[in-house]
Amino acid sequence: MGSGIALTAAQSGITAVQIDVSQPALDKAKASHAKSLARLVEKGKIQQADADAALSRLSYATSMGDAKASDWVVEAATENVELKKKIFKEMQATFRDDVVLATNTSSISITDLASAVGKDASRVIGMHFFNPVPIMKLVEVIKGLATSDETTARTIALATAMGKTAVPANDRAGFVSNRVLMPMINEAFYAWMEGVAEPKDIDQIMLLGCNFPMGPLRLADFIGLDVCHDIMMVLYRELGNPKFFPCPRLRQLVQAGRLGDKSGHGVFQYPAK
Ligand code: 3HC
Repeated sequence: MGSGIALTAAQSGITAVQIDVSQPALDKAKASHAKSLARLVEKGKIQQADADAALSRLSYATSMGDAKASDWVVEAATENVELKKKIFKEMQATFRDDVVLATNTSSISITDLASAVGKDASRVIGMHFFNPVPIMKLVEVIKGLATSDETTARTIALATAMGKTAVPANDRAGFVSNRVLMPMINEAFYAWMEGVAEPKDIDQIMLLGCNFPMGPLRLADFIGLDVCHDIMMVLYRELGNPKFFPCPRLRQLVQAGRLGDKSGHGVFQYPAK
């Protein structure tokens, strides 16, 4: 997601630094940025000069310190509360004290993450993007208990400048998007496990019958089965309702390392990229 957010920012005229502890992950992001922009030029959607300008606005770093003059930061690490809190503490120590500390978490409490930065909690906000970030129109904006109105207004303005529509949601596990989407995906796994239909037919029914752009099982692979599983666990723990417990079929695939597109095999199999 971080890679998509950085690319979208750069295409919107914003200088962006993508930070990752892994140099290979940054190399992959850089190659993917160049490929995405080249494809847009090929299709005639943008001019070569626009692609070159977007690329020139992008840089990559393994250390937060290399981006310390930034005006804004969006954390987009994996959905692990302790890891995210550690990153928030580092963000607080690295960036100026007027910088908004946003998180692209898909389900974790903003108030909980903000507790990692104490007095700076008013600058913490959820800025939830959707995959593929350059295409999807929404940014779900989530205020924590201490998030200031100024932080919220600035976040809506930035999302708008990035060509997105910002829609507010309150700070409950999964917010709106994943509170509704993930149980639907989980239910598709139950339908498969109980033999209601084969995966391709479950997807086809939802595609043709409900006008989904992709079926729920294809979407689960696209998002990552581990991510779907982790979000269900956050819903289960935080909302205290057994209906959110991940389907055994989903758990089993994750345990087997079948994570979806990124591992080449999830519900469906994918050719090596
Ligand atoms: N980056 C940039 N552009 C992309 C892209 C990507 N990764 N993938 C597809 N596109 C572009 C294509 O180039 C094409 O552009 P064009 O119309 O200008 O030629 C356009 O999107 C349509 O792509 P395709 O024709 O290849 O295929 P589809 O029509 O099936 O669209 C899709 C692909 C946009 C991914 C569509 O299937 C879709 O909208 N799927 C649902 C995605 C979704 O639900 N995302 C949300 C996931 S939940 C989430 O992110 C939250 C998190 O917290 C879990």
